Amino acid sequence: MIKKLKLRNFNHSSEILKLLKTTGYENLGLVPTMGSLHKGHLKLIEKCSLNCDKTIVSIFVNPTQFSNKIDFANYPQSIRKDVETIRKTNPSAIIYTPSESDLYTAPAKAEIFDLDGVDKLIEGKHRKGHFQGVATIVKRLFEKFSPDYAFFGEKDYQQILVIKKLIKKYKLKVKIETIPTVREKNGLAMSSRNILLDKESRFDAKIIYESLCIVKRMVTKSGFDKIKDFINKLFLFNEHFNLEYFYIAESCSLKELESFNPKIKIRAFICVKVQGVRLIDNIALN
Ligand code: PAF
Repeated sequence: MIKKLKLRNFNHSSEILKLLKTTGYENLGLVPTMGSLHKGHLKLIEKCSLNCDKTIVSIFVNPTQFSNKIDFANYPQSIRKDVETIRKTNPSAIIYTPSESDLYTAPAKAEIFDLDGVDKLIEGKHRKGHFQGVATIVKRLFEKFSPDYAFFGEKDYQQILVIKKLIKKYKLKVKIETIPTVREKNGLAMSSRNILLDKESRFDAKIIYESLCIVKRMVTKSGFDKIKDFINKLFLFNEHFNLEYFYIAESCSLKELESFNPKIKIRAFICVKVQGVRLIDNIALN
C-alpha cells in the first residue's frame, strides 16, 4: 500500500531509502538541483510530481563541477528558503539536502567517464572538467535512489546530452524527461546565477535571448560567418557584456557547423559574462 509522506528534508540518503521502503511507490522521479530555486526548477518539480507518484528533489552545490574555486564559493545558496518553497508548492516532495560526506569521500573528486567527447565541446571547451563533475554527481544520485525518471531543463541543453550519453554508456536504468527553458519576462533564461546581477544588468541581459532570436531569423538567409560576425559585433559594442562563446552546432552531436543544411537539426549556443557572472543560453534554429 502507498502511504502519504510526512514532510521534512533529509541530509542522509539512507533515511530516504528507508522511507521509500516503508511507503512504497510505483514510479520514482528525481529532480537534481543545486538549489537557489527559481521558476524553472519549480516547473521541473511540477512535471516530476505529475508523472511520478514519488518525487525526490536534491539540493546540493556539487564541488566537482566547478573548475573555478571563486565561482564555487560565490554560487548562490538559500537552502532554508528552497525547502520552504518546495513545501509550499509540492508538499509531498522528498527533499534531499546532503552534506558533502553523504556523496563523496574526502577530498571530493570527479570520476573519469568516457562520454565520446560530448563533454568536451561547447561549454566543455570553456569549463574544463565541468561535465565530468556533473556526470559524477548525477550517476551517484541515480545509483543511490534508482529513480525511474530524472528531470532536467533545456537551458542546460548540453548537460542533457551528457547525461543521456552517461546513461547509455554505463547502462543506467533511468529515463530522462526535459522541459523547455523557462524565461524571465524580458526573455532572459532563468538561472540561479541571475540574482547575482544588479537590476539594470538583469534587465539589459535580455540582449542574450534577443540575439538568439535574431540568429534564428537569419539562419536560412545568411551564411554562418555573417551570423557569427553579427554576434561578435553586437557584444563588442556593448561594454558591459563580454561574449565568451557563440556556436552553431548539430543538435544531436553538438558538432560545430559551417553552413545551413535544412536536413540537419541545429541549435545556437551562447555564453556571455555580465558583472563577472557567466550566463548561458541556447535556441533551436530549425
Ligand atoms: O543543473 C544543475 O543544477 C546541476 O548541474 C546538477 C544537474 C544538479 C548537477 O549538480
